[in-house]
Amino acid sequence: MTFDDRAYVPAEAMGIMTARTLANSHPTLLRLLEPDTSVLDVGCGPGTLTVEIARRVDPGAVVGMDVNPEMIRTAEEASPPGNIPNLIFYTGDIRESTWDGEFDVVNAARTLQWIPDAEVALHRMARAAAPGGRVVVLDFDHTAAHWSDPPKPWTRFYEAFLEWREAGGLDNAIARRLPALCETAGLADMELSPQITTVRAGDADFFRVAGLWRMVIESRGRQMVAAGRLAETERQDAFDAFTEWMQGPDAVQTVHEACVIAHRPAGC
Ligand SMILES: C[S@@+](CC[C@H](N)C(=O)[O-])C[C@H]1O[C@@H](n2cnc3c(N)ncnc32)[C@H](O)[C@@H]1O
Repeated sequence: MTFDDRAYVPAEAMGIMTARTLANSHPTLLRLLEPDTSVLDVGCGPGTLTVEIARRVDPGAVVGMDVNPEMIRTAEEASPPGNIPNLIFYTGDIRESTWDGEFDVVNAARTLQWIPDAEVALHRMARAAAPGGRVVVLDFDHTAAHWSDPPKPWTRFYEAFLEWREAGGLDNAIARRLPALCETAGLADMELSPQITTVRAGDADFFRVAGLWRMVIESRGRQMVAAGRLAETERQDAFDAFTEWMQGPDAVQTVHEACVIAHRPAGC
């Protein structure tokens, strides 16, 4: 995995993931977790949410996996092997996973958006779930995001972001496809929850939530420049313009995600 792969997460994006908690970023999963639930966390990144999952389901076994060895290294630095007895991490591609019928919950938060053949990934996730177990998928609809009076350099950046993703075979509106993807993977009894997050200037969480996009400019933006999708000057202009936009008294940002809980039918 290299910097040029879209699924590669540059170091500048690490803070996006380490600032997350289940409460502030994945409330649907949070309400499913009970002691002794076993969980596979697909695309666990630096493991911030995975550690929280492990603490909540203790003594249930939790496995965090990610295709990027740098992510697993970071996760294991934060939580060395054996530190939390019911938690392990490993490097792997979910599309090549051979888990079969193992987990009460198989979770992928904001991971499928980075996988071109998300169908294959979801099939493997469905297989990893125990019969009667649940698959939980949370992901973005990047096409629906909205910023109030966005400055032009930011709009230019965001359009280039969507184009760069699309050119890599990634689905910018994957949140809308989650129920169909789950059905194709043989999952049933679906529950769909839209997760729409609006933050306004003055909200306690505004700078954390809106500020994630500054990290996107600093991380994904550099990949976009390397791929020839954006000039470095445009990237820098976007950073400055977005930073200034965040200081405005009327700034409002809305981001759209959706979460699906689906079941592997019992006896299959
Ligand atoms: C946006 S991060 C999400 C991290 C974490 N789940 C969260 O919500 O903060 C997506 C993660 O998926 C991982 N990923 C991408 N493609 C993958 C694949 N085929 N198999 C496993 N992990 C993958 C990336 O390396 C990255 O760490």
